[in-house]
Amino acid sequence: GAPAKADISKLEPGQQMIVEWRGKPVWVVRRGPDALANLEKMNDRLADPTSEKPQQPDYIPNTPARAIRPEIAVMVGICTHLGCSPTYRPEVAPEDLGPEWLGGFFCPCHGSKFDLSGRVFKGVPAPTNLVIPPHMYEDDNTLVVG
Ligand code: FES
Repeated sequence: GAPAKADISKLEPGQQMIVEWRGKPVWVVRRGPDALANLEKMNDRLADPTSEKPQQPDYIPNTPARAIRPEIAVMVGICTHLGCSPTYRPEVAPEDLGPEWLGGFFCPCHGSKFDLSGRVFKGVPAPTNLVIPPHMYEDDNTLVVG
């Protein structure tokens, strides 16, 4: 399949855009400084905080940001449990997700939770982190997926 290109120049901190690649939704999220700092606080609550299972290309660092450019998250928007589409929930401590929630993705099908890097929480049905697709940057504003 052909690679998918996306212009990310208009993507503001906290915003998500969705790029279609091989029939799959690929999420692109720009994370601000607070969101990046919150990722550093998540490890104890995650099943695979250092991405030991190969859910990402080799060139993606096993850091909390899981990204070529820490501020830009790129991941396939399909739950690793049974394939539902998780909901982007960037807000901190919303009423329905509780005071501990620091932003992430919530799967409405069976309640799996992922942080803003797509790292899966402990004790939820999804077995692995969300998948990061192959991608690169053609220039500062152009993401190429595939
Ligand atoms: Fe997401 Fe089951 S498909 S929790």
